[in-house]
Amino acid sequence: MKIKILFVCLGNICRSPAAEGVMQRLVDERGLASCFEIDSAGTYSGHHGQLPDPRMRQHASRRGYNLTHRARPIKRADFEHFNIIVAMDESNRRNLLHMASTIEQERKIVMMGDYIVKLRAHYDYVPDPYYEGAEGFELALDLLEDACRNLLDEIIEKNKKNIPQS
Ligand code: 4NP
Repeated sequence: MKIKILFVCLGNICRSPAAEGVMQRLVDERGLASCFEIDSAGTYSGHHGQLPDPRMRQHASRRGYNLTHRARPIKRADFEHFNIIVAMDESNRRNLLHMASTIEQERKIVMMGDYIVKLRAHYDYVPDPYYEGAEGFELALDLLEDACRNLLDEIIEKNKKNIPQS
């Protein structure tokens, strides 16, 4: 059975589709693509159907990520379908907790910031780059690359029985 991860931010056009791209590349590099389903969604539906923000696509493409996700709002069925739901900041987490309908669903929600290691002294969440300049997008990608690596390591460690070890 696949391990299903959903990354969630506000608009689903900056942070969460980038997280999806970063995580997809990590699992591809480790030869684990068949073990994972990775997706992203937003708590706000205003960008439904849009590609990621052109600024995020540009900064991500410089690091070799081709972000093709189409924004979509999170739906109740996501709380059943996905095993891990990753919030980028506290506001996202609060919105997700309001939508969860069981304790089991609440337990699926984790904070991306808990997996930030290198920049931990400065950030315990992924700041929204939407109203920022280029540095905001670079910072978001730095934090996402750091956190995705650590999140994936933990998932692999916890699912040793189901995931082939490299
Ligand atoms: P995201 O960034 O949550 O990382 O996708 C944002 C995108 C759009 C808006 C806010 C944040 N907005 O207000 O439209």
